[in-house]
Amino acid sequence: MTEDGKRPAAAPLPQEASAAAIPPPCLLVIFGASGDLTKRKLVPALFGLFREKLLPEGFAVLGVSRTPYPDDAFRDHLRDGIRDLQPEKFDPASWDAFAKRLYYQPGDIGDPESTKALAARIRAVAKDRGIPGNLIFYASVAPKFYDPLIRRIGEAGLAAASEDLPGYRRVVIEKPFGRDLASARELTKVVSGVFREDQVYRIDHYLGKETVQNILVFRFGNEIFEPIWNRNYIDHVQITVAETLGVESRGDYYEEAGAVRDMIQNHLLQLLALVAMEPPISLSAEDVRDEKVKLLRSLDPIPDEAVGEVCVRGQYTTGEVGGQRVASYRQEKNVSPGSLTETYTALKLSIDNWRWGGVPFYLRTGKRLARGVSEIAIRFRPVPYLLFGDTACGQLESNVLVLNIQPEEGIFLKVGAKSPGPSICVKPVEFQFTYERAFGAKSQPAYGRLLLDAMLGDATLFPRDDTVRISWSLLGPLLSRWEENPGRDLFFYPAGSLGPREADKILGREGRQWRIP
Ligand code: BG6
Repeated sequence: MTEDGKRPAAAPLPQEASAAAIPPPCLLVIFGASGDLTKRKLVPALFGLFREKLLPEGFAVLGVSRTPYPDDAFRDHLRDGIRDLQPEKFDPASWDAFAKRLYYQPGDIGDPESTKALAARIRAVAKDRGIPGNLIFYASVAPKFYDPLIRRIGEAGLAAASEDLPGYRRVVIEKPFGRDLASARELTKVVSGVFREDQVYRIDHYLGKETVQNILVFRFGNEIFEPIWNRNYIDHVQITVAETLGVESRGDYYEEAGAVRDMIQNHLLQLLALVAMEPPISLSAEDVRDEKVKLLRSLDPIPDEAVGEVCVRGQYTTGEVGGQRVASYRQEKNVSPGSLTETYTALKLSIDNWRWGGVPFYLRTGKRLARGVSEIAIRFRPVPYLLFGDTACGQLESNVLVLNIQPEEGIFLKVGAKSPGPSICVKPVEFQFTYERAFGAKSQPAYGRLLLDAMLGDATLFPRDDTVRISWSLLGPLLSRWEENPGRDLFFYPAGSLGPREADKILGREGRQWRIP
């Protein structure tokens, strides 16, 4: 509060703050740089920031991994990646200017000698590019290497500012943050032995998507929705992240993860937190994250005896997606032929608080489904009495508000309207807002926004340690039930379908249906 008892003016939206702000010089050290993430996501996103002139003059990437490339081969490998992925956005002159900022150092995390060599290379690159200090370490390695990697950074003295390399130190960690509560705690212990929590940026790329950031703006920047955003008006909420893709080349990772660890523990619970949390007192990182934590703590634990009713898992078999015949999960590379890993999960959650008591939240995610779509659908209660029940034109549908994250990127509100003609006939029609139509462009890749925020020191869009722990405690009972009995609650579905039929029962028992996106 200010002295006159009024609340201080709201902090500027992170979007506005960072859209204009150019971060201070920094060196981004990416561990696991020969992997897919660097080529497909990180470097294209950085190149996008470079083209939009959002990177500081003193900026460089130092890629580290075991593959022995010279700098030039690393640059060519990344250039080919961008050219293949976004041929329309590739322009050789900008690439050449950007590529000068890319360096490579072969190294093995387990070998202290190679860490010494890395420390020397960091200093050399910083000098070469006129970067006076500020280091961000990006852990894009398999989770089993997080522990040795963080320890080595600490042991090599790289986690603290030094006379020749002053400024901040930050570490960006890719999910999964552990594989259960115990391992997440263990990881936190290792990380916090080297970095303070405010130096740690756990990346959940869903939070960098424009439409996900718009959830808070939509809810709290408009007068008309918040008064009805509660159990008095909302019947239930469905959160869907459906993919047409299979596990691609990540069979070994996915076998260990499955849909719950890969998607629900992070992306879907984050979406749920944003759609259901109370308004934060400001848009500062801590205030927003405090509200998310409060919401996640209000989720009812799932009792063991109810798991079979509220949760269904699935795995894809062969089928057809987009007119192409595709293999079953068990036939994918690096997947066991008898695998019982889930590639689909549907789950009902309940929030035990004043706003949401009695409103079910249904979550589902899966690979190799009929259509790729990520959306949050809010279904309102039916109108109080059926004034139009006897009309010839069928049932009146209740209103649905759809926050579409992808592919349409927009918001759609379904309402009933009288269709033209002499009789009263109510038909569903849609109000539509799409980013493309309203702002004329598709939004920027999520990784660009998040990398920029990490450089600016804005952690609002990065899950905090407590959020991670709460998600694991919620999902722990499910995960241990399946570890004890791996085939439990697992049903097969053909690739290209809507998922296992059994998932319909979760809603069917309550007289509801999944939306067909
Ligand atoms: C990643 C998961 O976090 O998100 C992948 O590991 C998944 O399995 C991906 O395919 C989905 O992200 P997007 O942005 O394509 O919806």
